[in-house]
Amino acid sequence: MLELKNLTFTAQNTDVNGKSSIRTIIDNVSYTFEKGKFYAITGPNGSGKTTLAKLIMGINEATSGSVIFEGKEITGLSITDRARAGIAYSFQNPARFKGTTCRDLLAMAAKTDDEKVIVDIITRVGICSLDFLDKPVDSRLSGGEIKKIELATTIALNPKVAIYDEPDTGIDLWTIDPMVKLLKKEQKNHNTTTIVVSHNRAFLEAADVLLLIKDGKIIYRGDLKGALPLLNDFSLCSFTNVCEGELNARCYR
Ligand SMILES: Nc1ncnc2c1ncn2[C@@H]1O[C@H](COP(=O)(O)OP(=O)(O)OP(=O)(O)O)[C@@H](O)[C@H]1O
Ligand SMILES: [Mg+2]
Repeated sequence: MLELKNLTFTAQNTDVNGKSSIRTIIDNVSYTFEKGKFYAITGPNGSGKTTLAKLIMGINEATSGSVIFEGKEITGLSITDRARAGIAYSFQNPARFKGTTCRDLLAMAAKTDDEKVIVDIITRVGICSLDFLDKPVDSRLSGGEIKKIELATTIALNPKVAIYDEPDTGIDLWTIDPMVKLLKKEQKNHNTTTIVVSHNRAFLEAADVLLLIKDGKIIYRGDLKGALPLLNDFSLCSFTNVCEGELNARCYR
């Protein structure tokens, strides 16, 4: 349904002395996401997860390789055209829009002014519609609030492929499980191909398929059980040592 073929992304690095070098951030990745499945992408900080998500959305331009969506090559398409085709991306660090309210944002995404529809979406992500409907989506929102609004916007778009980049960042403990349930429900009800980039065990457990990225490569695809030895590998997860040998991926967060 969504196929990545030998996808590569390189970027130019310039050090403080002005010396530049080319770095491969996504390295010849090939993978096919199936319609209606729930995927979790995890891996160490800086391994390339966000870069890969942005390549799918067209925010980053592939250096080589291709992205094929529903049988059509979309590698050269703009973000807007990919969005029109049914791909949505929820940013790790969402943008803030001075002068735009939650109502405006969600009305645009859901393509309706119907307050009932907008209130329903806001409520589903666990924020109070009375407080938030006419609140500006600007720098006064807290880190967790802006993430919830970003999530609501992606849900409102009702995309064919929904990519959520660390939706749980800054989210309180009590909201994470309902958030997993919400995204699973969206996936089931709308047959949405769901791709969640996360370090959180709750998302890794909920996924049909877990992809583990390291150094710009997919080094594992499968279930969480099979990934545990890799997640506990010191070279992959430097936090494991604080768990003093506890062979449990709970320490992977
Ligand atoms: N346009 C770019 N130019 C240069 N380096 C980049 C560019 N985009 C990403 N990088 C680098 O590529 C690496 C991977 O970044 P990316 O944001 O994909 O990591 P990540 O796996 O999402 O990490 P995290 O878990 O911290 O969110 C990082 O070292 C980052 O600094
Ligand atoms: Mg990231």
